[in-house]
Amino acid sequence: MNKPYIFITRKLPDIAIERLQSFAEVNMWPYEDVPVTREVLLEEAKKADALLTMLSDCIDKEVVEAGQHLKVIANLAVGFDNIDIPFATERGIAVCNTPDVLTDTTADLTFALLLATARRLVEAAEFVKAGEWKSWSPLLLAGHDVHHKTIGIVGMGKIGQAVAKRATGFDMNILYHNRSRNETAEQMLGATYCSFEELLKQSDFVVCLTPLTDETRHLFNKEAFRKMKKTAIFVNASRGPVVDEEALYEALVSGEIAGAGLDVFYKEPIDATHPLLTLKNVVALPHIGSATLEARFGMMELCCRNIMLVLNGERPETLVNKDWLRTT
Ligand code: DGY
Repeated sequence: MNKPYIFITRKLPDIAIERLQSFAEVNMWPYEDVPVTREVLLEEAKKADALLTMLSDCIDKEVVEAGQHLKVIANLAVGFDNIDIPFATERGIAVCNTPDVLTDTTADLTFALLLATARRLVEAAEFVKAGEWKSWSPLLLAGHDVHHKTIGIVGMGKIGQAVAKRATGFDMNILYHNRSRNETAEQMLGATYCSFEELLKQSDFVVCLTPLTDETRHLFNKEAFRKMKKTAIFVNASRGPVVDEEALYEALVSGEIAGAGLDVFYKEPIDATHPLLTLKNVVALPHIGSATLEARFGMMELCCRNIMLVLNGERPETLVNKDWLRTT
């Protein structure tokens, strides 16, 4: 019997894919820092039984349609807005993501970004390195307190809950807004559910962790920023398109809000000339929410296990499109 064929859209360390190689023919895009070209992706999809994809790959209808033999798409991310899920489901393809293994890692980064923005850490570090530190002075690089303030978490999934847990260590008042109530967060962490509007009005830190969907696209728009406190700090660690970046820029420049910590952008990588990057009150990171060696290796291993399970006719560990089960 022919071995299954697997295409990986980015160069991953050999050690992470050893198990796949013993079981299938594996081909990998040869670069770690250059995305796969559309042409190669479409060619490879035609041959592949499985694709191991990155969040930066656009796995749309055309790619799914090209995948005549495709049985599984394993995305190296918890988010899956880069994949046409309904169409993949229609075609009987399992789509898998990497939840859990990155929850605490991403929550750590989100909270670090909140702290860095509030306490102006990046600005301060650059100030010292640039030799600008001439004397200690009472209000030099004075930021905002985090402890005992109100954090408003939009999107209280596993990462949201892990951020809330970190907030309890800072004696913060925790508000959240979510599609459905999170009883665990309420009982274990003392989080209070409220409407989106109320959260915007009350929070000192508005933290966006909601997935990108048709409903959440541009959720943070002009009106939303207008409702926030003038001292509010906005943190986004979910997906760029949840935010209207022009409205965010205006809100920051006009003083409608005090600062923003951004790990994600509308277009990634963000252009170095983007107006948001000219602002001192913006801390910008290159989408590194889950970027620790431990989490990334955990994510790679989970993708490999999911692929092997599906190709062996079994249920994957972390299936996104639950309807797929009905098609098999
Ligand atoms: C993901 O994996 O979807 C997140 O963006 C982590 O940063």
